[in-house]
Parts: sequence; C-alpha cells; structure tokens
Amino acid sequence: MCGIVGAVAYRNVPGILLEGLQRLEYRGYDSAGLAVVTDDPCIDRRRTEGKVAMLADSLRERPVRGTTGIAHTRWATHGVPSEANAHPHLSNGRIALVHNGIIEGFEPLRDEMIAAGYRFESETDAEVIVHLIDYYYERERDLLAAVRAAVQRLEGAYAIGVICRDEPGRMVGARLGSPLVIGVGIEENFIASDVLALRPVTDRFIFLEEGDLVDIRSDSIGVWSAANETVVRATVRVEHVFDEVDKGNYRHHMQREIHEQPRVVRDTLEGRLGRTRVLEPAFGVRAPTVLDDTDAVTLVACGTAYYAACIGRHWIEQYVGIPAQAEIASEWRYRSVSALPGSLFLTLSQSGETADTLAALRIAKQAGFAHTATVCNVPMSSLVRESDMAIMLEAGAEIGVASTKAFTAMLADLLMWTILLARRRGMTQEREAELVGALHGLSDAVDEALRLDDRLRLLAEEFVERRHALFLGRGPHFPVALEGALKLKEISYVHAEGYPAGELKHGPLALVTDEMPVVAVAPNNDLFEKTRSNLQEVRARGGRLYVFADSETGFEEAPGVDVIEVPRVHEAIAPIVYTVPLQLLAYHVAVLKGTDVDQPRNLAKSVTVE
Ligand code: M6R
Repeated sequence: MCGIVGAVAYRNVPGILLEGLQRLEYRGYDSAGLAVVTDDPCIDRRRTEGKVAMLADSLRERPVRGTTGIAHTRWATHGVPSEANAHPHLSNGRIALVHNGIIEGFEPLRDEMIAAGYRFESETDAEVIVHLIDYYYERERDLLAAVRAAVQRLEGAYAIGVICRDEPGRMVGARLGSPLVIGVGIEENFIASDVLALRPVTDRFIFLEEGDLVDIRSDSIGVWSAANETVVRATVRVEHVFDEVDKGNYRHHMQREIHEQPRVVRDTLEGRLGRTRVLEPAFGVRAPTVLDDTDAVTLVACGTAYYAACIGRHWIEQYVGIPAQAEIASEWRYRSVSALPGSLFLTLSQSGETADTLAALRIAKQAGFAHTATVCNVPMSSLVRESDMAIMLEAGAEIGVASTKAFTAMLADLLMWTILLARRRGMTQEREAELVGALHGLSDAVDEALRLDDRLRLLAEEFVERRHALFLGRGPHFPVALEGALKLKEISYVHAEGYPAGELKHGPLALVTDEMPVVAVAPNNDLFEKTRSNLQEVRARGGRLYVFADSETGFEEAPGVDVIEVPRVHEAIAPIVYTVPLQLLAYHVAVLKGTDVDQPRNLAKSVTVE
C-alpha cells in the first residue's frame, strides 16, 4: 500500500523518482507527489490527485531539478484522495516526508504539534510525523537526530523517507512494520518500498530490518538498528529479472499475466520435478527437517492466496492424510490459537509483505509451531526473510492488482510440497509418479484452457448488464469458485458470491431468478453427480447456468445452459486448470464494462497495512 522512492545522486533525480513511481503504482494510485531540494536551496514539491501520469504531465509542463528527492504514490487510509492529502508532506518549508503504513493513536501527537504552533494542511496521520521531525530539527539541527527522536514517539507501522532543505545531499529513512529497501548505486543511492522501483538504476539492495534507521548520501550509507547501534546489513544482488512492467502486445497487465501462465507454471515446476518424482533437494537444505517434523499444517493467507490455501488443505487431507486447516490471516492473528504438536505454519503470499499474513507469522513463531515456511513470489520479502524456509514461485512480477499467475504458481508449489509430505507418509511410487505425470502436463493444460478466450469474450457480454452472480463448486473446486467470484467483483464491480454447491438450498437459492447468472465449476470427479443435482435445482428456478465442465461429464447445453468445455485433466491439477477460464471471464467482463482492469477502484496490490 503506497509506494515510496527516494534518491540522492550526482545527477537530477526527478526522472528517476517518476519512473520509480510508475513501477510502484500498482501499490496505490489515489494521488502522487514528489519533492526535491533545489539549488537555492529550497524544497520544490509537486502533488496531484489521481494517477502518476497526472504528476508526469504536470512535471512536463513545469519541470523540477534537484539531486536529492523523495516521491510517493498513495493508497488512502486517513483522509480522502486529494492533493492536500498527497505525499510528500512539508513542515515549515524545511522538512519533506513520505510515509507508508499507519500511525496508531496519532491524535495526541497532532494536538501536541498544534500546541507547538504547527498548522496542519491534511487529514493524514503522516503529516504529524513531518511536523514532529521539524520540531526536533529545531533542537538538534541534524536530520538524522531529528528523525531518530521523532520515530521514538510513533506507534504503529511506518516506512519513511525524509529530506531537509538545509541539508542538501542527504536523505534519512526508517522502517517499522512496513518494508523499505536501500538501492546501492555508483555515486548515488536510493530508497524504495519495493526493489521493483529501482530496477533501472541498480541491482544491489540492502534490506532493512525492523526498527532500522538509515542515513543516505550519494557516497555513503549508514544504518542503525532499533537498539541504536551502527550495523552493517548485507548488500544483496537481486539478479532475478523482476522487470515485467511492459504490457507487451497485451492491452492490460492482467491480460498478459493470465496468458503468461503456461510459462509461469513451467518455470515454477522446473528443476523441482524429476520424471516420476518431486526432487526434494530442490526445496533447499531446510526442507528435509521441515518435512520430517510435519504432522499437521496450518495454512494462512489473505485474499486470493487464502483460496490457494483452501485448495492446499484439500490436497494435504486427501494425499497426505494429516490434519490441515486454512485460515484467513486477519482473523487467525486475533484468535486464541494453539499449535497442534508437530505443525507446520505455512503462509502464502504473492508479495510477501501482506501485513496480516506477516503479523500471523510473527505470532506463530511464538506459538509453538514446529516450523514456519512461506510460499511466496518475492525474494527477500519480509515473509521470505522471517520464515524458516521459503518455497518460491517463479511467476515474475505480478503488476495487475487482481492476482492471477501468482495463484496458479502457488498451487503448483503447494501440490509439489503436498507430494513430498505424502511420500513421508507412505505414498507409493506409482501414486507419486501419477501425480508428477499430471504436473508435467500442467503447462499444456493451462495453455489449452487459454484457448477458451474467444468463447469467454462472447459469454462476457451476457454478464455486463448483470448486477450479481453466483459461483458454485464442491470440494477443492469450492475455493476455485470463490476465486472466480473474487476476480469478477474486484475488477468488474459485479457483486459475485462463491458458495459450496451443496449450500445452495440452505439460503442462496432464494436469490436465483433468470436475472442471476450462476457459474458452476464442475469437473468430472466423485462429486460431479452431487453438483449436477444442485444445478438442476437452479434450472428448476429459471436460473441462467454457465457450467465449466469437461467432456466426460456429459453435461449438455440447453436453453439457458451454457457448457464451457474445459480440458479433461487429472483431478489433482483440475483446480489450477479450471481457474484459468474464470480469470478470462472476469477479465472480459471488466473490459466490456470499461473499468480500470489493472488498478481497480479502492484497491492496491500490496496490502501492507492492517
Ligand atoms: O500479496 P498477497 O498474496 O499476500 O496478497 C493477498 C491479497 O491481498 C490478494 O490476493 C488480493 O486479494 C488480490 N487483490 C486478489 O486478486
């Protein structure tokens, strides 16, 4: 949520800051702004409501120059999206600040600053920080000392970047609960909330720890720990090219990301699958111990990643035969939970920075779980660094706010991990070979599912005027239905609900009329006949059915019933393959409705606040 980028360089930085913001825009896009220290010196600040492109237009009309600067793209928490609430915030024309996170209980500090003579111009919690820093600067006359004094007064989560008119060539940063990285350049250094922002300028990064404070100049970087000691944090070369910010020939990032999935699942499986076995050494040195010690699994995540967790739970129960539970992180973290003996705490996250998932992990580490692991897409993210081990996706950067390729890659990882656990519990070689064979066919099956694109573009026209939709599934396909409903609602703003098909007659059937599209995820498996009966109940009430099924179900088209034929695949990989046409359906409905597909209203890619 919100993106920060900052630079201290030997050259003008506004171009670097602007490009960084464009790369971070997926994190938030309510408003954008930047501030630089000019030669005079003074702080030149520009802010616009709306997307980064608006800021770029305004800078084109009236350029700024300066070699020290900070910038921000906002996802509103305190205060509406507006220019006044946009960052950077200024105090006394002397200090400028950008902030990610949420300051808890900031009102008394605000009162204190008002009493000290500061005038507030925004409704944000962030503005209190900039005035606090200026207040301490008056006493300390040193930016680092002023920031250090100010952050000691803060409760909550923050990543900040601060510059000072009276100290050109210097930028101070701090983090607690929100990510901040330093980009190490040659005669120039940077900060950002995400390495992606700095890919054009460096591939060397320092990942700050909780409570760290940094003092950055073009030729030096100083880091202090929460205990206020000078520390050396490792500089890491991030070689993985997480740099897919171009849409290529596609109209939207989401469209590109959906169509990348055959490659993404292939890359995620690559090196980890033998001909008939999952290759355990490819999961790292900690994997054997973690697998040996696992007698139960708690899978914790948010949003789409939570639906992946739900499918993982089914797989673990079915193939491993040990207790597994899937939990929503924002709920789990506030429950009184106790860990089952020998349980693995497994988080799932595309970004690795989701605040609730991270908080859950930190609680789990104190709660007696045998091990913690994460299934994650971002190397060096907080979840990866704080978990005992990580199982990485090879999805590349996911820019569209609606998660697509990360979901299918997460499932590929989860299925391999399930097989490794099952092997420990006596799964036969034949059974493993069968599942591994299915995984070998996954990329092609996803490719085949993508060929439904034209059909779904046509079907999407029937959803455009609809205000509601129901998605039904059973077993591991119930979370697939939930995911299909989430995709539709988040990008096309059609209200969609996912239900277990068997629950229909316990209430939601009352909603079914010829105005209500009902989407069913119904592969040919043990539960198909049950689902078929539920669908008859819908037809009997005049409901409009869209059934995603394979040819072996024998499900036939009829007036009011569309059957979308999904490739026939092994039941283990069916949840992955069936997800793809639902993504396409949501995508085409959104395009027809003319919504902002990649940056749907009110949402942000990386939810780093609670
Ligand atoms: O980065 P994460 O995977 O932890 O994010 C979790 C959710 O915020 C995310 O899946 C969200 O629900 C997406 N907008 C879904 O498309």
